[in-house]
Amino acid sequence: MYWTTLTVLVTFSCLHLTVLCSADEHNIKTYSADYYDAKDCRLSVADNAVALKMPVPFRRDDLHRHSIIYPDSDGRLRVKFLHGFKMSCTTAGKFASADLSNVTEVLVVCAGDNSLWYLGREYAYADFVCNREPRSELTVTDETCQGDGVVVAVGFQTESAYLGAYRVCFDKATKNSLYSWYDSRSPYYDQHQSMKKRPSFVASRQLYGNTNVNKLYTVAQQRKTVAKILRSDSLANMYIKNDNNHSLSRGHYTPKADFYFGFEQSATFYYANVAPQWQSFNGYAWNHLEMWTRYRMDNSTGRRVIVTGTYGSCTLPDVDGVEQPLFLDPPTDIPVPLFYWKLYYDADAEDGMVYVGLNNPYMKIDESAYICPNLCPDGYRGNGDTSYVAAAGKNDENDGLIYCCSKESFEEVYGRLDPIVFRSV
Ligand SMILES: *[C@@H]1O[C@H](CO)[C@@H](O)[C@H](O)[C@H]1NC(C)=O
Ligand SMILES: *[C@@H]1O[C@H](CO)[C@@H](O)[C@H](O)[C@H]1NC(C)=O
Ligand SMILES: *[C@@H]1O[C@H](CO)[C@@H](O)[C@H](O)[C@H]1NC(C)=O
Repeated sequence: MYWTTLTVLVTFSCLHLTVLCSADEHNIKTYSADYYDAKDCRLSVADNAVALKMPVPFRRDDLHRHSIIYPDSDGRLRVKFLHGFKMSCTTAGKFASADLSNVTEVLVVCAGDNSLWYLGREYAYADFVCNREPRSELTVTDETCQGDGVVVAVGFQTESAYLGAYRVCFDKATKNSLYSWYDSRSPYYDQHQSMKKRPSFVASRQLYGNTNVNKLYTVAQQRKTVAKILRSDSLANMYIKNDNNHSLSRGHYTPKADFYFGFEQSATFYYANVAPQWQSFNGYAWNHLEMWTRYRMDNSTGRRVIVTGTYGSCTLPDVDGVEQPLFLDPPTDIPVPLFYWKLYYDADAEDGMVYVGLNNPYMKIDESAYICPNLCPDGYRGNGDTSYVAAAGKNDENDGLIYCCSKESFEEVYGRLDPIVFRSV
C-alpha cells in the first residue's frame, strides 16, 4: 500500500523536476515504515521572525493552476505527508543559506512535522529563508478593461509559475485607476502576518512616466496644487489642514490586510492601487468597511471577488464660489474622486452588494450623495454599525457617509463592470 503511494508521489515529482527523481526516490524508499505514520507537515508561518523573508509557498491545484498555499486558522501551512510543494524567492531573489544560494525555487516533499526533503536531503522548514522579502512585479498587460482602460497585473514571478495577487483597471490618459480587484483565498480566515514597517509606494514608469507621484501627495504640495485650482492660498490652507486628517492620503483600493502574507501586503503598495482619499474618510469610515469586509469573509469558503474603485469628481468652491474639480496633477491627471466603492461579490451565488462611500468631508450631505438607492438602513458605517452619523460633524464637516446598493443599481450609474473582473484566473 505504501509503495503505491510512493510511486504516485515520485511520478508527480518527476513530472515537475526531473533532477529530483533519483535522489528523491532513493531517499523516500530508505525510510522505515514508522515514517509513514508520521503526521502531515504543519509549518508555522504566523511567527514573524520567519515570516518576513519566507519564500512564497505554492503548488498546483486540482485544475492544474498554480496557487499560493495559505495557512489554516492556526497559522500553519498543512501539507500531507509525502506530498510535494514548491517555494520560491521569486526570480528577483534567492535563498539565503549557502547550499541553496544557486536556486530561487525548490520543489520539496513533506517528510513529516517540520521536515522537508529537497534533492535527497532532509531540511527543516526554517532552513528555507530568502535573502529578502519576495518581491512582487507590476505588469501592464495587453488586455483592456472598461473601454479604454488597460489591465495591470500585480503578482509574483517564479521560475515555473506566475502567482497573481490582484489586478487594476487603469486609465493611462488621466493616470487614474478605475478599480482594483482580486479573488479571495478560500477558505478565508481574517488573519494576516503583521508587517514590521510600511513599504514606500512604487510608481510604475510605464504608468506614470516621470511624474513625481510621491511629491504630489505631500501636504505642502497638495496646498500648492489646491491653491492653484481654487485661486486662493487661504482657501487651500483652510481645506488642506495640517491635522493629519484633512489632507489627501494614499487610499488603498485592494487593502493590504486582505492578504495573509507580508510579501502580498507589500505588493499593495503601488500607486496604481491607490487614489487620493481624504484621511478623515480613509482612517475611519472606510477603514471600518474594510474590516467589515474581512469579517464577512472570515471562516468562509467559496470564491469571492472583491472589487474596489472610485467614481465621480471631488470638488471644492473656488475664490468665486464656483465648484472646481480637484486633481493632484492638474489639469487632468490623478483626479480626486468623489466616491469610493467596494463590490463584495459572491461568485457562487453570482450576487453582490456595492458599498459606496463619500470622499469629500466638506460636502453637505443631501440626496446627491446617493448615486443609487440605499439598501442599508439609515446609512452605513461599516463594522456592522448602522447608526447614521453622517453630516453630524463639527465645522460643517461630514464624517464620511457609506451606504449600500445592489450591484445592478450601481451599474446603472457607473456602467457595467467589465466581465473580465468576474472571470476566474
Ligand atoms: C546548486 O548547488 C548544489 C549544492 O551545492 C549542487 O549540487 C547543484 O549542482 C547546484 N546546481 C546548479 C544548477 O548549479
Ligand atoms: C471564525 O471562527 C473562529 C474560530 O472558531 C471564531 O473565533 C470567529 O468568531 C469566527 N468568525 C466569524 C465571523 O464568525
Ligand atoms: C478625523 O476625522 C474623523 C472623521 O471626521 C473623526 O471621527 C476623528 O475624530 C478625526 N480625528 C482627529 C484626530 O481629528
